Amino acid sequence: KRDASPFVPDSHELSRLREASLRCAGCDLYQDATQTVFGAGPANARVLMLGEQPGDREDREGEPFVGPAGRLLDRALAEAGIDRDEVYVTNAVKHFKFVRAERGKQRIHKKPSRGEVVACRPWLLAELDSVRPELVVLLGATAAQSLMGPSFRVTAHRGERLDAPGEFDGRPEWVVPTVHPSSVLRAPDRDDAYAALVADLRAAA
Ligand code: URA
Ligand code: SF4
Repeated sequence: KRDASPFVPDSHELSRLREASLRCAGCDLYQDATQTVFGAGPANARVLMLGEQPGDREDREGEPFVGPAGRLLDRALAEAGIDRDEVYVTNAVKHFKFVRAERGKQRIHKKPSRGEVVACRPWLLAELDSVRPELVVLLGATAAQSLMGPSFRVTAHRGERLDAPGEFDGRPEWVVPTVHPSSVLRAPDRDDAYAALVADLRAAA
């Protein structure tokens, strides 16, 4: 089955991984996206934040969480007492998946399929092996299911500090599931949704 593994180098040094990821063709998503958006942050971060996939802005800039969802996440992290500069940030899927609006040039985010999440997982596993964080914050269902399996439900566990699955051998030791910052931007009651995200992040702090 096709996935990212043939593109992942033996060396799990972050700079090597990042460079190799730029040539990944492990699924079809590289074809329409501008570039691979690899993770960013300190190589020895104790906390890793896992999102879904890059958005429009991230696709153009090549950096994770630099668009509207990223700004909201920055603010929520600060409020929860987590230093953004000490956190490694990445996504379950490293290419932007989108559909074009019928007229105009707007690119509309499309949720990655389970197959695409699984295809991209070798990059995430290599990042985890390299950074060896103590804790992973799972931002939304796609991130949570990439790490915890397809039957995991964020709504049943948000804000809880859970043991990471045994396959990770203690790195990470814990995960904290929460919602995706984009869902806060779309929520009917944005203030409540934002406060709930901050409360979940405090469990990670
Ligand atoms: N949403 C994500 O999940 N990741 C990003 O990098 C940006 C928006
Ligand atoms: Fe490779 Fe992941 Fe991009 Fe698919 S989404 S081409 S697996 S980096």
